[in-house]
Formats: sequence, C-alpha cells, structure tokens
Amino acid sequence: MWPNAAEASRKYTEACMLGSLASLPFIPFASAPTPVEEMTRLRAALGGGPRLLVKRDDAIGFAFGGNKVRKIRFVAADALAQGADTLITSGGVQSNHARVTAAAAAKLGLHCVLVVNGAPPDPPGANALLDRLLGAEMRYVSAREDRAPAMDAAAAALRRVGRHPYVIPIGASTPLGAAAFVHALTELIEQIDPPDVIVHATSSGGTQAGLIAGCALAGVGTRVLGVSADEPAADLERTIRGILSGVAPLLGFEPGRFDGAAVEVDDSFVGRGYGISTTESRAAIELCARTEALFLDPTYTAKAMAGLSAHIRRGTFKPDETVLFWHTGGQVGLFA
Ligand SMILES: Cc1ncc(COP(=O)(O)O)c(C=O)c1O
Repeated sequence: MWPNAAEASRKYTEACMLGSLASLPFIPFASAPTPVEEMTRLRAALGGGPRLLVKRDDAIGFAFGGNKVRKIRFVAADALAQGADTLITSGGVQSNHARVTAAAAAKLGLHCVLVVNGAPPDPPGANALLDRLLGAEMRYVSAREDRAPAMDAAAAALRRVGRHPYVIPIGASTPLGAAAFVHALTELIEQIDPPDVIVHATSSGGTQAGLIAGCALAGVGTRVLGVSADEPAADLERTIRGILSGVAPLLGFEPGRFDGAAVEVDDSFVGRGYGISTTESRAAIELCARTEALFLDPTYTAKAMAGLSAHIRRGTFKPDETVLFWHTGGQVGLFA
C-alpha cells in the first residue's frame, strides 16, 4: 500500500493533472472507467510469473470500443468547438480509428469522409461494413503515402463550397489524442495501485505517449512497454517523443517536461508486417480466448500479447511484479 505522504502527493498530482485536463472539451461517448481484471488462468497457462491484469478498453460501450474511442472523445469535442460540420480522417480499409471517427460523426450529426488505402472490399466486412452502416463517405487511395494529400484535397474542396471540415491525422495521435491517455492513466490509478509494467499495442504512438506522460505527471514508476504493430522501434520512439513535446504545453507544462522519460518500444513481434499474422500472434488469440474469454485483434493486440507472453516465458518480469496488459480493442478485426 502507499504510505500516507506518497498517497497525498499522488492525489495532489492527480488533481493538478485533472485540472488541466478538465479544461479540455470532452464528449463522454461511453461511460468510464473500463474494468481492470485479473488474468489468473492466462498466468497459469504461461507457467506462472508476474501477477497479470488486463485493462478492458475493448469493453468501452461505444461503437465496439477500443483506444480510439478515448481519443475521439477529446478530438471530436475540439472539432465541435471549432465549428466543424465534417470529420475527415484516414487509415487502412480495416482501420479501427476510421470506424470510431465515423461513429462519432454519426452520433454528433456530422458528415464523415474516410480516406482509406486499399481496394474497396466487396462485400465489405468487419470495420469496412461498420463504416458503411455509419454513413461515412469513402475515398479509396492506393498507397499509405497518398492518404494525407487526399485528406487535404477533400478538406480544401469542402472549404471551397462553404463547409467546415476538421482533419484528424492518422490514429488521432495528436497531442490532444494522447491527452486522452493521460486521462486514462489517472482513471487506472484511481482503480488500482500503479502496476510495475504496462504492456500495450503501439502504432501511431498516441496511446503510448499519453500513458508515458500520465505516469510522469502522476510520479509513478510504471514502465510503459509498447509492442509495435508495424513501425521500427527507432522511428516510433521518435514519433512518440514528438507527440510528448506537444502534450506538455497542452497540459500547461514546459515543452521539455517529458524529455527525460523513457520511451520503450519492442518491434520484435511485427513479423512480416502490418496486419500479417504470425504463429505467435495466432497462438496468443487462441490462448486469451481459451483462458480468459478475451478476444484480441489480429493486427494490434494479438502481437502485443505475443510479446507479453514471450517476455513472461523468458522470465523478463519478476514474480512479485504486477504487469497490466492494456487491451486497446480492435476485436472487430477478427471478422475481416
Ligand atoms: C486496436 C488498436 N490497438 C492499438 C493501436 C495503437 O494505438 P496508437 O495508434 O495510439 O499507437 C491501434 C491503432 O490503430 C488500434 O486500433
């Protein structure tokens, strides 16, 4: 348990953080907090090791949930504050972020343009089906690097006819999107003592930047280990540091506030690339379903769990440590 002084300091830090976060507009698309659960059967199946917990952002009750709902609560509120009538974003054909953006737009009565790379799926399934049901206008481009120019062109065309588009960069991994995970970290430490390690899937970096900033501001020594779904570790670490330098002023701190924070990305579970399953990720999906009735997605959380399982089997974590798997959702992708 926390000694009283540390507890008081923790509460003070949280209050300050929440104070600055509270000044950011926020749309409560689904009620918080998400559950934290023990994974005793998974722990036993992995041969023991640290205490294993899971933070169930897969269970967020809006548009099939996931980490992108946390981000869109802040980002869509900013769009409304700026008078937007259209949300524009991009991703792959099966993007969770695109689905959640389309859902937010539908709920708020806004138009949504999704620029996705890949061929139009016929018939559409999983996230692509939900995008269509949500009424998003789909624009297909052939390559990832075509997405940003296509979003800018769509926004310019709308502005020319008097509309007010709001462009959300890939994954909503802006400082504002990351702030949602500072908020999420404060939610977690109101639920449980800070874990020794948080393991989660990382890709565009906003989730990890927010968790790192949250831990630094709360003064907790929790290690945040992101398991990459695609990007090389060095590139992603650079991206995360860039987001962190924007999160600091957004929350009222000097830009270098998080310069000393550790940014840990493990890119050794990507396999042959983004969205391509590995033997370990397929095994992780089955193991979590059969031990915890927990559904992982093939692109992000299965690779993160493959990483977590491998680290546990190798004995990377001490038996007296608590490791929390932050389930970032995406399970719609199981039906792609
Ligand atoms: C299910 C899921 N988990 C994790 C991530 C990675 O989050 P971030 O882009 O904030 O790094 C994503 C991003 O697309 C996702 O959809």
